Amino acid sequence: MYKKIPGTRDILPEEAYIWQEMEVTSRKIFSLYNYREIRTPLVEEECLFNRSLGESAEIVQKQMFLIKHGRDEYALRPEGTASVVRAYIENNLAKQGEFSKFYYLGPMFRLERPQKGRLRQFHHIGAEAIGSVDPGLDVEVLSLADQLLKSLAISGYKIKINSLGCVKDKATLALELKKFLGKQVEKLCADCKERLKKNVLRVLDCKQEACKEIVSKLELGNKHLCPECLEHFRIVRSGLDGLGLDYTLVPQLVRGLDYYTRTVFEISHPDLGAQDALGAGGRYDNLVKELGGPEMGAIGFALGVERLLLVHSVHQSTVNSKKLVYLITLGEQARIHGLKILAELRINKIACDTDYQGRSLKGALRQANDLAARFALIIGENELNKHVVTLKDMITGEQKEVEQEKCIEHILAAS
Ligand code: HAM
Repeated sequence: MYKKIPGTRDILPEEAYIWQEMEVTSRKIFSLYNYREIRTPLVEEECLFNRSLGESAEIVQKQMFLIKHGRDEYALRPEGTASVVRAYIENNLAKQGEFSKFYYLGPMFRLERPQKGRLRQFHHIGAEAIGSVDPGLDVEVLSLADQLLKSLAISGYKIKINSLGCVKDKATLALELKKFLGKQVEKLCADCKERLKKNVLRVLDCKQEACKEIVSKLELGNKHLCPECLEHFRIVRSGLDGLGLDYTLVPQLVRGLDYYTRTVFEISHPDLGAQDALGAGGRYDNLVKELGGPEMGAIGFALGVERLLLVHSVHQSTVNSKKLVYLITLGEQARIHGLKILAELRINKIACDTDYQGRSLKGALRQANDLAARFALIIGENELNKHVVTLKDMITGEQKEVEQEKCIEHILAAS
């Protein structure tokens, strides 16, 4: 028997409808904020991600799904931001200096060691706003993420924010950290010893207890921020306060991707366990330029759909919302007539189905019940002769004969 690759999942119909609902809800929220959908390829040139996320980022170092084809090296996209920025530049939107707000829904790929909430193929609901350094945009993006979670019936999450500052500020912070951590190098884990040399900010992200302990003693504040970045962050926070958005300032928050500058944020949920991030994002004011476009600010975020589902508490709430009609026919003539009724129901946009496995009347009614049908529509010889159908209301159990011509009207009128 063939098996799926570890860290990938089959989304069966019983679960797929929740995904559809999440997608519909997300699209509605995005359009309220005037974000428009962008669909980029699942596969890109490998160097796009190396350049965007940084050579020393864990994703680039260890988690890329690579495909070699002759001399070409491709990668399955590990995230959406780099692709969206590539598309923004390649399609000349950058040249026109256009301010654009995009959203995307789709699969991402990272070769990670699978565990709860950590997959090799997972899905993002993400947004990217490109072409502005306005701190008001940071406020909009954070409130969009918050609104999305609320609309997806998710509660109990925590929004953590920080400012890394501009490139110069990040360098100042790195220098300070190197000085402090350099004195305790022996206590750091092997990975962090490497990080100390290559990308010291990532030590703040380390999940090893010994490193966390050292990091917790750091007195990090806003000292590394230049006056402009300090002012930017002040306006972001007062905008969030004005909206009453609940957030916590976490100076240790740095994020594992090189492209981030200024505002960064992470949304965590206590029920997720070790992989507690529901989503994350931040500014990347240098990425458009890094990838060959002009200098322009940008900010975005992505939520992990599989993690949203782990904390989503209303799975069953809408299972019965579809008004399905289940046709049960008794005898050949009724069958032929019934198939015509199915066609008419579908023309009238009423979802319907019938038995194709030779069930008895009792078995077919049980099937209608299992499918959460709203009505069972029964046609036998008696109904044919009288030119009626028997409609059984599957919620109340009430059963009555309805003239064939009035049957659709009757179904449409039911709640
Ligand atoms: P990220 O933090 O790497 O950010 O991913 C965002 C979210 O995707 C995580 O918080 C988590 O919920 C989910 N996620 C990540 N890896 C996995 C995995 N292996 N299995 C399941 N879920 C996972 C980004 O990707 C940035 N592009 C976000 C962003 C957009 N920043 C600016 N714009």
